[in-house]
Amino acid sequence: MTARIIDGKALAAEVQKQVAEGVAALVGGGVAVPELAVVLVGYDPASHVYVSNKVRQTEAVGMRSRRFVLDANTTERRLLDLIEELNRDPAVNGILVQFPLPPHIDTARVVTAIRPDKDVDGFNPLNVGRTAAGMQGALVPCTPLGVMRLIKSVHDDIAGLGALVVGASNVVGRPMARLLLQELCTVSIAHIRTTDLERRCREADILVVATGVPGLVRGQFIKPGATVIDVGITRIKSETGAERLVGDVAFDEAIDVAGAITPVPGGVGPMTVACLLANTLSAAQMEAARSQAAGIDRMTAV
Ligand code: GUN
Repeated sequence: MTARIIDGKALAAEVQKQVAEGVAALVGGGVAVPELAVVLVGYDPASHVYVSNKVRQTEAVGMRSRRFVLDANTTERRLLDLIEELNRDPAVNGILVQFPLPPHIDTARVVTAIRPDKDVDGFNPLNVGRTAAGMQGALVPCTPLGVMRLIKSVHDDIAGLGALVVGASNVVGRPMARLLLQELCTVSIAHIRTTDLERRCREADILVVATGVPGLVRGQFIKPGATVIDVGITRIKSETGAERLVGDVAFDEAIDVAGAITPVPGGVGPMTVACLLANTLSAAQMEAARSQAAGIDRMTAV
């Protein structure tokens, strides 16, 4: 069997088109252009590339973006003050603080400081809790949201399927497992202390791998016909010095066993950014609906 390759770039382009249409409709209705504020602390080269990409694509769908680059020595207080300013700024609909943060800054404190209705990363504890409880109105982390759309591009219904998420991070693994549970998959999470990873992977109809360990999942780990989503992306240098990006799944082996698989690059990555745009639009739409409801309340009060 040769797996179907899930084209993340094509799906991301579809999402971007829908977002651009949503932005045009909102602005056409008299609402201000949605705006995303992106905050970067320090000079991690990969983060700078990711942030430039996010800013460029935000503008490509007709939204505004504001980028703040803070020195690596910026204090936590200074960062929290900036977040508070952005929380209060009515022009800003979404706030994203790029990770990783320097070690002297407490990431949990930062995500808690972002107003939940501007938390386009979906990391604020209120959004985490709402997602876990399957409540409406939660902003859901972008990578798991993108992965769900990739999975749904090859499955009409995933209820009852066995899903294994390899990796238990707050950014991908845990929210991913919550979304799969919401869709009534039978979900397991494997992590750094999990034993017998190979056997557990082989039981999964849907396998999502997000560990950052290149080639961790080999072809023989995969259940024949399974859907494999590779979230990993690591830059490696060959003996000739050429650089390339590789995933957590040994793609050349997996393609002969899986039913469908995402490539690296061109799979999950483009969907993550597209879902950030979708979340920023959702935040702006929810804000517009709240303002309209408050306006109607004010009118009925007079
Ligand atoms: N760094 C790597 N992935 C992410 C993400 O999804 N959001 C943020 N804010 N930082 C990241």
